[in-house]
Amino acid sequence: MSTLRLEKITKRFGDFYAAREITFEAQEGEFVTLLGPSGCGKTTLLKMIGGFHQPDSGHIWINGKNVNNLPPEKRNTAMCFQSYALFPHLNVAHNICFGLKQKGLPINEQQGRLTQVLNQVGLKDQHLKMPAQLSGGQQQRVALARAMVTRPDVVLFDEPLSNLDAKLRESVRFEIKELQRQYQLTSIYVTHDQAEALTMSDKIVVLNAGSIEQIGPPEEIYYRPANRFVADFIGAANIDTARITPAQQPGYYCVRCKLGEFYVRSPRPPQAEHSYICWRPEDARFVPQPRKGDNHFFLTLRKMAFMGNLTEAWGDNDENSLSVRLQLIKKPQAEIGERVCFQLPEDAIHFLEPVVGGSNEMA
Ligand SMILES: Nc1ncnc2c1ncn2[C@@H]1O[C@H](COP(=O)(O)OP(=O)(O)OP(=O)(O)O)[C@@H](O)[C@H]1O
Ligand SMILES: [Mg+2]
Repeated sequence: MSTLRLEKITKRFGDFYAAREITFEAQEGEFVTLLGPSGCGKTTLLKMIGGFHQPDSGHIWINGKNVNNLPPEKRNTAMCFQSYALFPHLNVAHNICFGLKQKGLPINEQQGRLTQVLNQVGLKDQHLKMPAQLSGGQQQRVALARAMVTRPDVVLFDEPLSNLDAKLRESVRFEIKELQRQYQLTSIYVTHDQAEALTMSDKIVVLNAGSIEQIGPPEEIYYRPANRFVADFIGAANIDTARITPAQQPGYYCVRCKLGEFYVRSPRPPQAEHSYICWRPEDARFVPQPRKGDNHFFLTLRKMAFMGNLTEAWGDNDENSLSVRLQLIKKPQAEIGERVCFQLPEDAIHFLEPVVGGSNEMA
């Protein structure tokens, strides 16, 4: 397979920027996800890679070749859509071979590729069925087979699972990922579902209003979000402003925020003394007794919801009515309205972007 590179791609519709200086790349066999809220420009980017939209500026390279001026049929990309878009009047085999037939590939070459791809997607006994006789997951596999059979350099997925029910979505998600890994398909996958992005991707490009907020592997995006948007969009986060000063030990910082004072270990120094910070609701632990210097804080419990494997809890910090969300493995033996002590590990707090204009917001 092959590599894809986008370099400073900008696309406007009138005055509106759907993509602004987008630069990223997918290595050979890499699974890259474009993740972001509705309207952030994901489909527009896919269409530019596929050749269905022309960028206003910037370059797209596939295997080191600039494809800006190539029409879709010359780009050797394949699109897997939101709706499977199978032809209802054609059986599985004819659906899969549709593109090959249009390209005028000899019939024996079509047959050979069809047999191979049916085996790859596990549908070899289903080739005579009509789309309406297949389950949603099988239809999605036919759509993937139709993309794979053209032996594309890059497969472009546009929310391929969004039409499936929740349970099927999960199993087809693993099937697509397994096929992608096995056949080393260089893939650009569009979704606004963070669970899909986290479980499937080698690399995630987080988009917001046409711009990139962060690029990185799933764990980095989750554990080291670059800014408030990423922290809030991927997973749940408690976000606050803080004054951060270096501690004596290298790599350690004193963080003063509305919740209190914390001793924090961070591989990344803050960008400014006054910055936003965040921590994940699952990082806080209920402690019966506070100990000096153990990063504890007090909350008045406002709401608790038992979810089976965890308990969601919300609490207020009385001094400045900061509302905090917690996910606790064990339901605390405490009542609503009670003042309870929690503790944060020293690596739970992450530094985000600087507070613009500053220190006034701070204690
Ligand atoms: N042909 C067009 N003409 C004008 N505006 C457009 C056109 N296509 C897209 N847009 C606008 O560009 C923005 C990005 O659209 P796009 O379809 O890329 O979003 P998306 O991230 O794929 O969203 P969703 O998750 O809802 O599919 C939207 O605000 C949309 O209204
Ligand atoms: Mg879209």
